[in-house]
Amino acid sequence: MIFASNFKTNNTRAYTKEYMKVLGNFVKEKDIKDDIFVFPTATSLDSFELPKNIKIGVQNAYPVKNGSYTGEIGLEQIEEFCIDTVLIGHSERRVILKESQELIAKKFNYFKEQNFTIVYCIGEPEEIRNEGLSSAMAYLWDEFDGIDLSYEKLIVAYEPIWAIGTGVSAKRDDIDEVLSGLRKKVKSPLLYGGSVKASNIKEILSIEDCDGVLIGSASWKVESFCEIINNGIKG
Ligand code: PGA
Repeated sequence: MIFASNFKTNNTRAYTKEYMKVLGNFVKEKDIKDDIFVFPTATSLDSFELPKNIKIGVQNAYPVKNGSYTGEIGLEQIEEFCIDTVLIGHSERRVILKESQELIAKKFNYFKEQNFTIVYCIGEPEEIRNEGLSSAMAYLWDEFDGIDLSYEKLIVAYEPIWAIGTGVSAKRDDIDEVLSGLRKKVKSPLLYGGSVKASNIKEILSIEDCDGVLIGSASWKVESFCEIINNGIKG
């Protein structure tokens, strides 16, 4: 299974250091072999001593080595931390930061060229979901425009926008039908994201086509992220 934590705009550099220490020790002590990703803020990047199955990624990056892109980070800044994992297409960047599919595809192609692991997010808004499954699937396929689905280091995260940060995840059957729809064309690991927590992790991971989870709020405290992993691996 894959357990990924997206810090978004949370946690300080000092707490992130502490977080990695506690998470690393937990994974070692429990001898956990599952793949774990953590996406801290760019200001909290550091060289952490972690077991090999814990990977640090960036939440966003501009598709350049370096240059004049005020406020952005590029490949040069990421490579300094030996990071080769990037999150692309998160709905908060699509909706709040107004990232176009064109820019998202540009980022995807740039980091694919760099051989990065790409956690690529898609997700439909509530009004589209309310129109039914076929509308939701059509919306999701559009979010793959310009994306190479055969890229071997691709991980897809399905995160319905209406379930993000609300405390109420999508229903098991709703997740199931979307993931099995995606599975027809996507051979990469499929994650679910949207209000994943310790109390629903088992149910979510029991979905046939679900290979893991991308977690926001319930992963910002390390004890809570460890609890989710612990409950998830018990199977
Ligand atoms: P959430 O966020 O777990 O707080 O719903 C998920 C995400 O946006 O990745």
